[in-house]
Amino acid sequence: WRLIPLFALLTFVLTGCGLENLTALDPKGPVAEKQLSVIYLSLIVMIGVFVTVAIIYVFVLVRFRKRPGQTGVPKQVEGNHKLEIIWTVIPFILLIIIAIPTVKYTFELDKDYSNDPNALQVKVTGHQFWWEFEYMNEKINTSQDLIIPTGRTIAFHLESADVIHSFWVPALGGKKDTNPGMTNMHYLKADEPGTYYGKCAELCGDSHALMEFKVKAVTPEEFDRWISRMKSPTAAPTSVLAQEGEKIFKDQCLACHAIYNTQTKQVEGGKVAPNLVDYANRSTVAGILINRSPEDLKNNLKTWLDDPQAVKPGNLMPNPKNVPGSKMEQSLDLNDQQINALVEYLAGQTQK
Ligand code: CUA
Repeated sequence: WRLIPLFALLTFVLTGCGLENLTALDPKGPVAEKQLSVIYLSLIVMIGVFVTVAIIYVFVLVRFRKRPGQTGVPKQVEGNHKLEIIWTVIPFILLIIIAIPTVKYTFELDKDYSNDPNALQVKVTGHQFWWEFEYMNEKINTSQDLIIPTGRTIAFHLESADVIHSFWVPALGGKKDTNPGMTNMHYLKADEPGTYYGKCAELCGDSHALMEFKVKAVTPEEFDRWISRMKSPTAAPTSVLAQEGEKIFKDQCLACHAIYNTQTKQVEGGKVAPNLVDYANRSTVAGILINRSPEDLKNNLKTWLDDPQAVKPGNLMPNPKNVPGSKMEQSLDLNDQQINALVEYLAGQTQK
């Protein structure tokens, strides 16, 4: 009995109660609502099966128990056509009861949303171990924080850059695999503003469990403001330290990460790593170190750049500093001063 609080705590920790809005039981959009109704229907059917079986089981235990004075082996029965037909037909009927709304909703939802001319088109690319979001018509590329307008269909074009991942936002509905070499379509809609957590739901490597993202549903007006902000220029760094950081970034990071170039006034750089435009306004560093303040952002960036493998094991970024014994052998051999300069530069990446 003394262990009960321990088990309660373990349940709490192991079920990941730390993230709010990571539940399919509190739907925030029409897709999740329909899916929840199917979950409830299955649950009712399963409870019915469980209770029926439990009642029969207890009845048999009591009714046919060994009574005083009885000896020997009871009469052995083998084969009963009537019973066998009953326990084949009943599950068959139960499966049909569950299948009808499941198939109906699957086609209905697809029909409702796939032809919506007003849908926001977002290409989602799963990477080990981060999410890339490309607003196809708006030509905006970002990662980890997905901003969407409420009340509008979002058409997700799901792809993968490497292995199979699975895109899942429980509160909005889900989930669907992202496969290399093909595009899966997935449609969601958010009814009300809020932050809804998403997770990768397909084992994809060392940091599968850390492959999280956030969906931030905002009003359509706020979404339009965000779009125009993302298309506006970033101010050139003013402090000497941030200017040094900009130079290091161009030399070392630009081959993989795109960022706003204050000279050419364009977003430039590689596409294999997260696009860092408006980086200072992301809610996390590396998707898991949470930024609650500008100070958190700097501390988190430093933690990340000091040893990325310690934060997200198995990620593909070269170590900025030389970390002895690290799984990632490639190192940019930066010193602490250079790391600080990078932190200062990245913490200033905000669109005005
Ligand atoms: Cu990506 Cu699991």
